[in-house]
Amino acid sequence: MKKSLKILLVAAAVLVPGWSMAQKWEGLADTPQMGWNSWNKFAGNISEKLIREQADAMVAEGLVDAGYIYLNMDDCWHGERDADGFVQPNPNTFPSGILALSDYVHSKGLKLGIYSDAGRKTCAGKTGSFGHEYQDAIQYARWGIDYLKYDWCSTENINPRGAYTLMRDALRAAGRPIFFSMCEWGSNKPWEWAAEVGHSWRTTGDITARFGGTARQRGWGQTVLSIIDQNAPLRKYAGPGHWNDPDMLEVGNGMSVNEDRAHFSMWCMMAAPLILGNDLSKMTDDTRAIILNKKVIAIDQDKLGVQGLRYKTENDIEYWFKPLENGDWAFCLLNRSTEPVECNIDWQEYNFTDDEVSHLSTSFDVITYDIENLWETNSKKAKVGTTKKALKVTVPGHDVAMYRLTPNQKKK
Ligand code: GLA
Repeated sequence: MKKSLKILLVAAAVLVPGWSMAQKWEGLADTPQMGWNSWNKFAGNISEKLIREQADAMVAEGLVDAGYIYLNMDDCWHGERDADGFVQPNPNTFPSGILALSDYVHSKGLKLGIYSDAGRKTCAGKTGSFGHEYQDAIQYARWGIDYLKYDWCSTENINPRGAYTLMRDALRAAGRPIFFSMCEWGSNKPWEWAAEVGHSWRTTGDITARFGGTARQRGWGQTVLSIIDQNAPLRKYAGPGHWNDPDMLEVGNGMSVNEDRAHFSMWCMMAAPLILGNDLSKMTDDTRAIILNKKVIAIDQDKLGVQGLRYKTENDIEYWFKPLENGDWAFCLLNRSTEPVECNIDWQEYNFTDDEVSHLSTSFDVITYDIENLWETNSKKAKVGTTKKALKVTVPGHDVAMYRLTPNQKKK
């Protein structure tokens, strides 16, 4: 680079606030990312065979058509670094190498994700990226990787913002657009500083396939409800390009159908990344019906990109609203208790403006909305009237009732 140009760039970086030479890749996260990850079901037991099987299932089950495009290997794909310091996969479990795997995954219309860690070791004790950030980013780009989940184990006294910015810059410099999924569990409030660094950041410790019960405030062993409680207050930090990540899905991993449905619905209400965590090659019809409900997915993927609002909690029922494109709203009743609860929704009690994020108003006093029940598969029965009349519904224990409200006059 010419000396004068270099001086100009450095001067601009110093003088223009928020201007830095490197940026994250833009345009990869206009809506929350969707895909699958190996950790929740398979933990460290992964291989190229398993990843190929899951890729096949993603296509065969119609998941790719529904929007699930990332197929992400989590911890334990790793072998050692070679003599030049380039990380290699475990030769026993990934004998064909990552490039061959990514070619296969790409040929199926999917994108391939990989996992690393800002420390010397990953959480399962494998090779971390510390000191090799640029080299790892180059390796991922060569392999045709499309997504990096970057964890936070063994980081000792590293500065979190510095460590994640370093990897962002490395990914940028490597020249291949790679989605950057930050996984430091919310320990350093990434929502306050990471919008320019990553495309999403974890807001909590690790999820388990448990709905409620004894929940921890932070750390491992989180439940669906404890995660919702930590993620709900962070809505103002999320938006297109930078999402709160309340961790990957546990649908199909052992909770009841009601709990799975509630979990999935709430992740959609919170505009969360939808990263499946079950064995896609062995799904029940109930699991299929949940993760392939396109009307519910559309709430998550709505272009407005606003994380839903927990409006109130009463008698164990949470009342959630999410503003959507074109004046629509999603409305969801979440039952935290194990017993069914009867609700009677008089819409006039819910006139409010979302002052915190979208500045949109429900305006039930002047707008009549058509109500569609998003979990009713019979399309006639799904149309449950308008907001002129109160809505009566019984929400089963650990379940939801979820609706899309559409201004009635739009159809005239
Ligand atoms: C951490 C992450 C998990 C998973 C494991 C892998 O616990 O939060 O999502 O990636 O590491 O070891």
